[in-house]
Amino acid sequence: MKRIAVLTSGGDAPGMNAAIRAVVRKGIYDGLEVYGINYGYAGMVAGDFRRLTIDDVGDTISRGGTILYSARYPEFSQIEGQKKGIEQLKKFGIDGLIVIGGDGSYRGGAALTRLGFPTIGIPGTIDNDIPGTDYTLGFDTAINTVLDSVDKIRDTATSHIRTFIIEVMGRNAGDIALWTGIGSGAESIVIPEKDFTMDEVLAEIQEGRARGKKHTIIMLAEGVMSGTEFAEKLEEHGDLHTRVTVLGHVQRGGSPSARDRVLGSIFGYNAVKLLEEGKGGICVGVKGDEVVFNDIIDTLENQKHLPLLSLYQINKEISF
Ligand code: ADP
Ligand code: F6P
Repeated sequence: MKRIAVLTSGGDAPGMNAAIRAVVRKGIYDGLEVYGINYGYAGMVAGDFRRLTIDDVGDTISRGGTILYSARYPEFSQIEGQKKGIEQLKKFGIDGLIVIGGDGSYRGGAALTRLGFPTIGIPGTIDNDIPGTDYTLGFDTAINTVLDSVDKIRDTATSHIRTFIIEVMGRNAGDIALWTGIGSGAESIVIPEKDFTMDEVLAEIQEGRARGKKHTIIMLAEGVMSGTEFAEKLEEHGDLHTRVTVLGHVQRGGSPSARDRVLGSIFGYNAVKLLEEGKGGICVGVKGDEVVFNDIIDTLENQKHLPLLSLYQINKEISF
């Protein structure tokens, strides 16, 4: 292994830069040449590669986003796109690749692995929805960003005795809603992994009001339905003054938390080591306090991510 490359793909996530920095620094420390590929798989197919130096990643550990930019490039799902990508990797003399992204990006990595190109996956998405790891890069920062906003919303919700529906990200996963729901004392958490009825949500609101609560926070994962749709349905069920806040892409930005910087550094460092050991087709992750290495194809095909559903019941019993 002489020359390796790294790319970021899918939705960006705070901590991606920490991982890129670790890949570059560890690679150079061990005598490798490290290339960055701009714009994910789109840049790979287009040949948008650049050699990265120690200085290129200086002053990046504290920055959100990704210095390699990111892209969604559906063409990479097709074999033609994947073969073109491998041609470019070979043209630049790359021996191994590190992909930082979500489960879609992992599928690209798995496809390259099937075609014989050594690829390592690093979990990077605020959604925390990747199998094979307890946590993904960006999740911790995102939930802290959400909590910062919800604390402010609570002030105005109390002043006006209003019910706030806060729509948070998580394309198909309830992790962000679950963790920020419990962290903000939300009366109700609505996530795709748990069935609910509007009557149930209404009962939770009314219970709080009967006890003299001045505000109600409903934390809604976007994967269930939009905040506006949810508000309309809820108002059909009861006499409520609702307001909807869609936090949107603010959740994806900002300086990474300490945890995301450390995780990114650990993941990047270990990804380089795996390539140096001649291993490909692996994704790195964390389970408890342990760094874990899983087969990327097996992880995608046979493992399923589930949020920490015990939090759901805990919230029901402490936030009424
Ligand atoms: P994320 O990685 O955050 O889940 P996406 O699902 O948008 O984000 O995937 C990111 C990119 O990964 C896609 O734009 C595409 O280039 C690549 N990708 C997604 N699915 C596949 C697939 N089945 N095979 C190969 N590449 C894929
Ligand atoms: O996958 C991360 C994510 O932020 C999801 O939570 C969200 O549904 C999606 O990306 C938004 O994608 P885009 O930035 O393309 O609008």
